[in-house]
Amino acid sequence: MGRVEGKVALVTGGASGIGLSTANLLAKEGAKVVIADFNEAGAKQAAEDIKAKGFEASSVFLDAGQEESIKQAVQFTVDTYDTITVLVNNVGLTNLQKDLDVVNMDMDEWNRLINVNLTSVVLGSRFAIPHMQEAGGGAIINTASMAAYASDSIRTAYGTTKAAVTHLTRYIATQYGKDRIRCNGVAPGLIMTPAAEKNIPDTLKDLFLRHNALPYHGEGDDIGNTVLFLASDESKFITGQTIQVEGGHYLANPTTPDLNDLMQQ
Ligand SMILES: NC(=O)c1ccc[n+]([C@@H]2O[C@H](COP(=O)([O-])OP(=O)(O)OC[C@H]3O[C@@H](n4cnc5c(N)ncnc54)[C@H](O)[C@@H]3O)[C@@H](O)[C@H]2O)c1
Repeated sequence: MGRVEGKVALVTGGASGIGLSTANLLAKEGAKVVIADFNEAGAKQAAEDIKAKGFEASSVFLDAGQEESIKQAVQFTVDTYDTITVLVNNVGLTNLQKDLDVVNMDMDEWNRLINVNLTSVVLGSRFAIPHMQEAGGGAIINTASMAAYASDSIRTAYGTTKAAVTHLTRYIATQYGKDRIRCNGVAPGLIMTPAAEKNIPDTLKDLFLRHNALPYHGEGDDIGNTVLFLASDESKFITGQTIQVEGGHYLANPTTPDLNDLMQQ
């Protein structure tokens, strides 16, 4: 029996990267999975790939910036598989060109990221929770980021929305715990999704490795496996928590790599 056998999961942004890893792992462990994505063709292909392996999946178009579209994705899940018991709010955007420091950031981009990164999590949960109540319980897993905890010279909106997601996670956990609905989050550090692998220059990859406690990068399945655990009954007494999956990147005193170099001289 799979670790999430009998559960029905909606994964937003499931056509690529972390969402795709998550959808694959949930399906492999017995969940019926709906992959919802802006990239409709990619979502369809991902669902077909899962079905070709003998597991269950469907796909639906989602624009996480539009309330009606989120509502439709939840309804599609319920219409297809009778219920929704796992919601993975994975969609999240970042923009290195426009999401800058407080004085210089583009305010339209600030509003867009609040909408897509934060409001979409409220709305997905708002539409899914009544079905979970009817089903006798469920699990919501929100994708935050280590940017929720450590500030930076740019990406003000991204970090702020992700910090808000970790607190929203606590609110949902508090408000619906008695209905046996758990809400947890996962905070990835740098994860080498195929897109990140392609777009991040080697010098930046090396810089990240230098600051990781572990000698390797994170992969999509590292997040997917954490989501799988949080979706499964193995985590039935965990709620309101956001698990940091970041290779020890933020663990030590920031000067540790430099001190190590000094000590070797
Ligand atoms: N990759 C990392 O290093 C990293 C680190 C920290 C947090 N995260 C978070 O993990 C999540 C997934 O990141 P990823 O790196 O896998 O991203 P990705 O860009 O590889 O995939 C994101 C998916 O979401 C879809 N999408 C984008 N906008 C959408 C919208 N408005 N509506 C519906 N679908 C939309 C895309 O089509 C794509 O399939 C995000 O919330 C991101 O902030 C990623």
